[in-house]
Amino acid sequence: MPRNCVNVAVLVSGGGTNLQALIDAENSGIIKSGKIKLVISNKADAYALERAKKASIKTAVVSKSELGQNGMEEKITDLLTENKIDIIVLAGFMCILTADFTKKYDKRIINVHPSLIPSFCGEGFYGLRVHEAALKKGVKVTGATVHFVNEIPDGGEIILQKAVTIPENSTPESLQKRVMKLAEWKILPRALELVSNNILKEGK
Ligand code: GAR
Repeated sequence: MPRNCVNVAVLVSGGGTNLQALIDAENSGIIKSGKIKLVISNKADAYALERAKKASIKTAVVSKSELGQNGMEEKITDLLTENKIDIIVLAGFMCILTADFTKKYDKRIINVHPSLIPSFCGEGFYGLRVHEAALKKGVKVTGATVHFVNEIPDGGEIILQKAVTIPENSTPESLQKRVMKLAEWKILPRALELVSNNILKEGK
């Protein structure tokens, strides 16, 4: 029988506002082809875990500092297999995944990045640092990108982008909030629905 939903895992490290946007989009029907089954954090104290628990989503903590890169990826792989996960969303997940891992999930991992790729992206550009760099450069427009994840940090195929103007006197913190609200929380749910729906249509 054809499936009507794919299983989604969300990987997080911090506050989890993007995770919250996904949970809300699932509840409101914006996401209808995917169901969030599992939230994995590399930080035991990530507030994102509380958000998952409140939404009755299964959680797991996989610490890179305890397990090392390979151990962390092995544990994540086991959890994804056990929970029959089809799609992985990196929503503020602050660890880079190796080529060995990303190759196993070709076109099955998506990431949200807080700039218009190819600006302000790649290794070292994450969280507030991205907005600091945009303000330092003096760009007048920034935004967010959702892309597939491959072995190149922030280098995979772009799925959706949304531009955001930068008001005068912005701080990294005010710009981060603006980009999240006007771009990330909108395009991440839409991109997840697009990718999930395509997988269902392909019948994979
Ligand atoms: C978001 O702005 C996300 O785009 C960024 O970290 C923040 C996480 O916030 N991700 C990266 O910089 C990845 N390169 P959240 O935990 O509230 O979703």
